[in-house]
Amino acid sequence: MTDLFNLDGRHALVTGASSGLGRHFAVPLARAGARVSLAARRADALADTVTAVEAAGGQAQAVVMDVTERASVAAAIAAAEERFGRLDILVNNAGIAAPATALDLTEADWDAVIDTNLKGVFLTAQEAGRRMAATGGGSIVNVASILGLRVTGGVSAYAASKAGVVQLTKSLALEWARHGIRVNAIAPGYVETEMNAEFFSSDAGKAMIRRVPQRRLGRARELDGALLLLASDAGSYMTGSIVAVDGGHLVSGL
Ligand SMILES: NC(=O)c1ccc[n+]([C@@H]2O[C@H](COP(=O)([O-])OP(=O)(O)OC[C@H]3O[C@@H](n4cnc5c(N)ncnc54)[C@H](OP(=O)(O)O)[C@@H]3O)[C@@H](O)[C@H]2O)c1
Repeated sequence: MTDLFNLDGRHALVTGASSGLGRHFAVPLARAGARVSLAARRADALADTVTAVEAAGGQAQAVVMDVTERASVAAAIAAAEERFGRLDILVNNAGIAAPATALDLTEADWDAVIDTNLKGVFLTAQEAGRRMAATGGGSIVNVASILGLRVTGGVSAYAASKAGVVQLTKSLALEWARHGIRVNAIAPGYVETEMNAEFFSSDAGKAMIRRVPQRRLGRARELDGALLLLASDAGSYMTGSIVAVDGGHLVSGL
């Protein structure tokens, strides 16, 4: 039987690859055989991700990209294709949060969250999609969140941006199936990263974990299955799907 998850010969670009989940995703993609282009604004932090991929035996390059700027996105994807060939897989992972109650949220923070999490996903998908449409298709994996499907307090801009990513995923899937481009999303629940470790060891964080049916945080590697499924031929009949990986958080009792 052929290995449906094999990505040999494919070129995958991951945005937000300078830290957290994006840095993590680079390694399983490379282990599956993909050449990996790593995009974010901080070149020095991207260099560390390149080192991590190479240490795992993979091939990676860094491309500086600001997902909120069309010219930056276009230049970075062009540079990535110049060295690693046509783009087969895009992982739209770059994202920010600006926690604040809706009464206090500043317009600048609203704009930053929507520009990065929603407009950034669109600009990057559009640039990659135009190239994939011209070269025979590909797979786009957007990183949404369970907060795009349900809400909690203090995350109105983030939740709205991720709900936008969910609907954008479905819209692009509908429009681009004819071009051989599959567009799906992962909706992670709370996953432990360096950024949130402190919060989840606080009383408020522990209370949040008690509301997850599996009673624990996710680990980044527990997203790998969904990522590789959606990125590879194993998911060849999947498009427009939103795959929750959340320890059951979305089905927690009311
Ligand atoms: N961790 C969780 O529990 C969780 C749960 C659900 C969903 N998510 C989603 O998963 C994704 C990654 O989150 P994370 O927890 O790994 O966060 P993180 O560690 O803060 O990483 C965010 C990444 O996005 C990049 N980024 C931010 N603004 C950018 C811009 N304008 N252009 C290009 N890159 C930009 C950052 O790189 P630079 O600063 O170098 O540009 C960084 O690499 C986000 O979309 C987040 O919403 C996370």
